[in-house]
Amino acid sequence: MPVVSTSNLCKNYGRIAALRGVSVTVEAGTIYGLLGQNGAGKSTLVKILLGIVKKSNGEANLLGAPAGTTAIRNRVGYLPEDHLFPGYHSARSLLDFYGRLYGLSRAERRGRADEALDVVGLRKRMDSKIRTYSKGMKQRLGIAQAFFHNPDVIFLDEPTDGVDPVGRKEIRDLLQRLKSEGCTIFVNSHLLGEVELISDRVAILNQGQIVREGTVADLTRQTNRYTIRLADGQAFPTEDVRALGFPVTAHNPFHDVEIPEGKTIDPVLHLLQRERLSLRHLVETKQTLEDVFVQMVESGEPGTDRRQGKTAPLPTAKRAE
Ligand SMILES: Nc1ncnc2c1ncn2[C@@H]1O[C@H](COP(=O)(O)OP(=O)(O)OP(=O)(O)O)[C@@H](O)[C@H]1O
Ligand SMILES: [Mg+2]
Repeated sequence: MPVVSTSNLCKNYGRIAALRGVSVTVEAGTIYGLLGQNGAGKSTLVKILLGIVKKSNGEANLLGAPAGTTAIRNRVGYLPEDHLFPGYHSARSLLDFYGRLYGLSRAERRGRADEALDVVGLRKRMDSKIRTYSKGMKQRLGIAQAFFHNPDVIFLDEPTDGVDPVGRKEIRDLLQRLKSEGCTIFVNSHLLGEVELISDRVAILNQGQIVREGTVADLTRQTNRYTIRLADGQAFPTEDVRALGFPVTAHNPFHDVEIPEGKTIDPVLHLLQRERLSLRHLVETKQTLEDVFVQMVESGEPGTDRRQGKTAPLPTAKRAE
């Protein structure tokens, strides 16, 4: 059974259509990345799944129960965006507080809090007041808070916000570790490079609609182009390759060969062999997730303004609340 499943999920905040028919499925034990520009609807989707915000239409299920079911709450961890923990708590006392809310025993709370704070690199400062923490330290604490009660699924809204590069790597490693322990992780982010590194599947949300969904490999695979370089001094047989039906563009010392639909690179390789040319470089051109994302967003995939039924401009920033 999937951990998250939504079907045709819609959310309107008054006249703003934040989600417009979102259907996603997240399988257990995977890391799922939800990407989108500011205002795309990422946080709204998570908040509906957690029962913080009410859906307007469609289906939303979490751990096999309708979103918002209280009985499953202690199986779920959540790092909200812009969280604000009371400054008078220390990291240790905050986790103890949350642990009590989750119904953990005193011994469990103590042992797990030490370990969780160790994992996020806060152990040395765990008795200092939160108000003395840097932004990245607060974020690390938020992550510890999200996973320390050992939930089945964790929702992280922009987990690496404000965290330095070393810390971001540590967080990525931590998420992989939690996944290896069987936890399902749902990450909202606009840091495409990061999501690309850890997610099993990703969805791109644009103006409240999913415009692409799949594995990172699926989304970034561009099978129709190879970059070739021959040994120094050898001329690329551009005309012969074109005669075989493969368009060629040169950018010395490389040549890009496009593979038309339904063909493979093999005839080109055979030709090079026949002409006794030596390959020095042969790479299938890959897109990054960022390329895919920018393409999707630039191509418009336009949204509809609920009020006028017209194509809405692409949001570049959060609209007025
Ligand atoms: N409480 C609210 N009242 C009115 N509109 C809201 C509310 N919360 C969100 N919205 C609107 O819904 C849309 C989606 O917002 P949401 O916060 O889900 O976006 P997001 O993808 O998380 O953006 P960001 O990357 O900036 O966090 C935006 O147009 C936003 O202004
Ligand atoms: Mg958000």
